[in-house]
Amino acid sequence: MNTPTDGCLSGRVCLVLGAGAATAGWAIGQAIAIAYARASAQVMVGDLNLEAAKATVDFIRSEGHQAQACQVDVTAEASVQNAVSQTVSHFGGLHVLHNNVGIGKSGDSARTTASDWQRIADANLLALHLASQAAIPAMRQAGSGVILCTSSVASQRYVGIPHLAYGVTKAATNHFCKMMAVEYAPDNIRVNSLVVGLVDTPRIRKTMMGTYGEDERAMVNRRNAQIPLGKMGDAWDVANAAVFLASDRARFISGIDLVIDGGMSATVRGG
Ligand SMILES: NC(=O)c1ccc[n+]([C@@H]2O[C@H](COP(=O)([O-])OP(=O)(O)OC[C@H]3O[C@@H](n4cnc5c(N)ncnc54)[C@H](O)[C@@H]3O)[C@@H](O)[C@H]2O)c1
Repeated sequence: MNTPTDGCLSGRVCLVLGAGAATAGWAIGQAIAIAYARASAQVMVGDLNLEAAKATVDFIRSEGHQAQACQVDVTAEASVQNAVSQTVSHFGGLHVLHNNVGIGKSGDSARTTASDWQRIADANLLALHLASQAAIPAMRQAGSGVILCTSSVASQRYVGIPHLAYGVTKAATNHFCKMMAVEYAPDNIRVNSLVVGLVDTPRIRKTMMGTYGEDERAMVNRRNAQIPLGKMGDAWDVANAAVFLASDRARFISGIDLVIDGGMSATVRGG
């Protein structure tokens, strides 16, 4: 749970979409929002589940940092515009947009219906465009900005279970970041994707069990065995990388896929 507290995001306003704390344990967006606040940013915590967003905000405030919650559906243009407007009116600007929402349907791809595909594409991909469109005017006004997208190693390779629509939309996420990085470089807006490997989050334990077809301990052991460093990462491993990319320490880094996976994508073992 150690994250930078050196003020490297001082003076920055961050909007993290999909940063709620719905269940016990650390989810990735929640840890990212907390880490940005610990690095001295002011943070708007957006989530479809307002209570979950408020829980993250309560945690941030309990540590003495500044945050505000808003309800947002990242697939709905007006809702995303509203989240950006609330951020700017509450904190006076917007410097960092972090698109963290990611949904999928694992299991036999033949059972992924057209409506499953649309739902996943809307949340994982259309949402990136809607949020960037809404946020870029405020970043231009600020003179610079950072857009980060939480992607997945499933964007680059098969990770041991079928996850077709998820993997394909995450692959497009990486490309979205590259295209946007070049287009908005003249505005001093950096755009990068965080290519996340197997991470132990509450969602994994809740939604992936059926796919692995094992008990929880067996699933955890199998995921751990896929990783050269010996075990799944946690939400803080991703949050630390996000703070770096959001800060000026990464000022010359744009258009990259930063892989955070314990070495998993460097090997062919596991699966
Ligand atoms: N956990 C892993 O192993 C892993 C691996 C690689 C990548 N990722 C990526 O990390 C990100 C977060 O993963 P997580 O496991 O912490 O997920 P999570 O489901 O715990 O958190 C995502 C949050 O997004 C919110 N959300 C869902 N749909 C929304 C919508 N339409 N509008 C606004 N908010 C919405 C949910 O309420 C939830 O609070 C995702 O993009 C995921 O694809 C996770």
